[in-house]
Amino acid sequence: MSRVIVIGCGGVASVAIHKCCQLDDVFTDLCIASRTISKCNKLKEELQGKTKTNITTAKIDANSFDDLCKLFKEYKPDIVMNLGMPYQNLVIMDACLECNCHYLDTAAYEPENVDDPVWRKQYEKRVKEKGFTAYFDYSYQWDYHEKFEKKGLIALLGCGFDPGVTQAYVAYAKKHEFDRIDEIDILDCNGGDHGYPFATNFNPEINLREVSSEGAYYENGKWYSIPALSVKDTYDFDGVGKKDIYLLHHEETESIVKNFPEIKRIRFYMTFGESYIRHMKCLENVGMLSTTPIEYEGIMITPIQFLKAILPDPASLGPRTVGKTNIGCIFKGVKDGKEKTYYIYNVCDHQESYKEVKSQAISYTTGVPAMCGALMILKGLWTKTGARTVEEYNPDPFIEALDKYGLPKRETYNPVLVK
Ligand SMILES: NC(=O)c1ccc[n+]([C@@H]2O[C@H](COP(=O)([O-])OP(=O)(O)OC[C@H]3O[C@@H](n4cnc5c(N)ncnc54)[C@H](OP(=O)(O)O)[C@@H]3O)[C@@H](O)[C@H]2O)c1
Repeated sequence: MSRVIVIGCGGVASVAIHKCCQLDDVFTDLCIASRTISKCNKLKEELQGKTKTNITTAKIDANSFDDLCKLFKEYKPDIVMNLGMPYQNLVIMDACLECNCHYLDTAAYEPENVDDPVWRKQYEKRVKEKGFTAYFDYSYQWDYHEKFEKKGLIALLGCGFDPGVTQAYVAYAKKHEFDRIDEIDILDCNGGDHGYPFATNFNPEINLREVSSEGAYYENGKWYSIPALSVKDTYDFDGVGKKDIYLLHHEETESIVKNFPEIKRIRFYMTFGESYIRHMKCLENVGMLSTTPIEYEGIMITPIQFLKAILPDPASLGPRTVGKTNIGCIFKGVKDGKEKTYYIYNVCDHQESYKEVKSQAISYTTGVPAMCGALMILKGLWTKTGARTVEEYNPDPFIEALDKYGLPKRETYNPVLVK
């Protein structure tokens, strides 16, 4: 028996909800709460009759602490799965604390407007202290650690694939394959083709902000920032083939370094095609990625939000996306006094995901781990309280659940390394 609220009803939330409903003996009561209630009702209708989960829906503005508390107090969830936008992470965490429920999300907090002077001041301070410049980082949510701990609650941060499964892979490698991990390269490859000249495979605002940010990596105790997309390589991915990879900043590199201080270097790479980069650079050059509202014919619009409105909805890419994703971690380290390498990853097929849950593989690879993270908490398999990331928990039951519920691991020894 459990009571769960899912906030958001987009690509990722829809997969997580489908998967929760497949495990209706655990996820017995589920409320889909989002900004556009018609989407919640449509999904509820699709699922009813196929699951024993008792589904309800609610309209919510996740920016409103009062509205969130009202809903949480009425519904009394054990856990709130925040699968909407990362802009609302902090207010949803506040509401969870107020109403005594666990919290889970899939992306680190970032502000809606990165030109906001109050946020900017705190950001500049962090850039000086930490040395990397991305707009998203865990510091804001780690500030909640003690508050969650004191209340005996868990805030599970970043429980998608990357962040999320990639950190479980690190904990798993450390537990089963290495006495010491020296280097990690996280590789995120999307070999899918949706046939559009330009579209993003998850929320366009968050995707474009992430990719157009400066990149960062960690080496020998220091963070290094690099201009966006300035470090490029190629890698031949199992199930996909050769792809260009670009070094980005990603939030899990920060938590992995914190939790495994032995690591000497960690980098994160993502694949992009030429068409994606050409379009993104052009949109950036003309100001369409700006998060600062402007006045247009008497109304205020935010360029990147307007852009989102005219780009294909990632949730609509499912039927037309073909190909596979391949996401995982390559390790270098030492076991029993000998140097070794190890690669653990998952390959996910866009069309198979669509057949199962009517979503492409990017939403699938995020929604399934979100469900599995909630499962760990609801079954009492992960009990450490506080605001924590996935690598802080026992990776075995989580990876077992991923194997079982759609994202099985593959492993190779002596993989080709990134330069
Ligand atoms: N860790 C990972 O591996 C990973 C990978 C991909 C994505 N993600 C994260 O997953 C999250 C969801 O991505 P997505 O592609 O599913 O996005 P999406 O399709 O755009 O869905 C976002 C949902 O949030 C709702 N929403 C937005 N603002 C809201 C508000 N103020 N109050 C209530 N609901 C609100 C939207 O409602 P409307 O329907 O009204 O627009 C929509 O249903 C993002 O944070 C993204 O960064 C993580």
